[in-house]
Amino acid sequence: MAKTWKAGVIGCGAIAQALHLPGYLRTPGVDVVAACDPVPQRLREAKALVGEGLRTYADYREMLTAERLDVVSVATPNKFHAEQTVAALRAGAHVILEKPAALSMREIERIRQAMQRSGRLVVVGFSHRHYRGNQRIRKLIQQGAIGEPFMIRIRFAHRGPSPGWAKSDWFYNPELAGGGALLDMGIHAIDQCHWLLGPIRGVQARTATLRKDIAVEDNAILLLEFERPRALGYIEIGWTSPAGFVGLEIMGDKGCLRQDNAGATTLTTGKITPNAKKRPKLKTRVIDPTPGKGGWATEVTTIVKALRQGLDLDCGIEAGAASLAVALAAYKSAKTGRRVSIPVK
Ligand SMILES: NC(=O)c1ccc[n+]([C@@H]2O[C@H](COP(=O)([O-])OP(=O)(O)OC[C@H]3O[C@@H](n4cnc5c(N)ncnc54)[C@H](O)[C@@H]3O)[C@@H](O)[C@H]2O)c1
Repeated sequence: MAKTWKAGVIGCGAIAQALHLPGYLRTPGVDVVAACDPVPQRLREAKALVGEGLRTYADYREMLTAERLDVVSVATPNKFHAEQTVAALRAGAHVILEKPAALSMREIERIRQAMQRSGRLVVVGFSHRHYRGNQRIRKLIQQGAIGEPFMIRIRFAHRGPSPGWAKSDWFYNPELAGGGALLDMGIHAIDQCHWLLGPIRGVQARTATLRKDIAVEDNAILLLEFERPRALGYIEIGWTSPAGFVGLEIMGDKGCLRQDNAGATTLTTGKITPNAKKRPKLKTRVIDPTPGKGGWATEVTTIVKALRQGLDLDCGIEAGAASLAVALAAYKSAKTGRRVSIPVK
């Protein structure tokens, strides 16, 4: 029988408690044996979730030295992602790395080099890829259900990470977070665009701090050009919206996919032509009544299973690098007021 893997978690805050720790607990073939966080209360909370047997550390370096871990989750403020991922790879572990994968392309390069040297893998926590509705949308696009897609719009917005979610207000500290709503939730939206429509090659963006009294942007708008010919997209991100549509819509030559994350996913098909004289006859059907199924509940299990079986989820450091490159280009565009190209790697 294959050996049981040992998992460790770096950072025991909100996402570790909602996703990583429970994810390991429900995944066969892996035991979560160790966790670290500089805040003692977080370690008590982790033990309450996992059990008194969990070995806890204040410093991640101590944990990586004392334990022989097969897989490590990095679930800390963004500034620490690259440094802790490199250390975990060097210690011989695969890494489940929270988004954004890093704060700069230089940090991404360090992670790439550590992966090459260690032979271990990194999977980036793009949770939206694990939602059932998004998986159905992707499959339908690949099957040609809406023909050639030419427009995607995504709106991801909520009240912001604190108060109410994160264990402190580090998300609003430019040094620890590296950016605001655009880097936090925008990176999920950018990754969805890549995953559903392919590489983004140009971006124009506006960022603004519209309602919160914070030092990073709380809202952002991105206009996207794709490598795929004759396709555009736009993304709206908000940290100030307790209400409003959250989801995505993709228009193609033969149909339209629309997902209200709090509602349903629908597919509309029919004779769709921009030049019709008559109103086209369209048919809309629900393809997923609860698109939010999956996601955090299945993410760790899916990733650990793939790592154990040597399967490529195609959600590694290159996916993290591609979305970070677009986010950084968007910040540059917001600063200069100009369109910014994203080079082909
Ligand atoms: N995939 C998703 O949907 C999703 C959702 C929320 C957050 N995230 C990401 O998860 C990460 C953590 O966010 P969060 O919401 O859990 O924040 P949080 O503030 O709730 O948790 C962060 C934890 O890291 C700890 N920490 C700080 N410095 C550390 C260090 N040097 N070593 C070890 N631990 C350290 C803090 O004490 C805290 O417990 C961020 O990168 C965020 O972008 C992802």
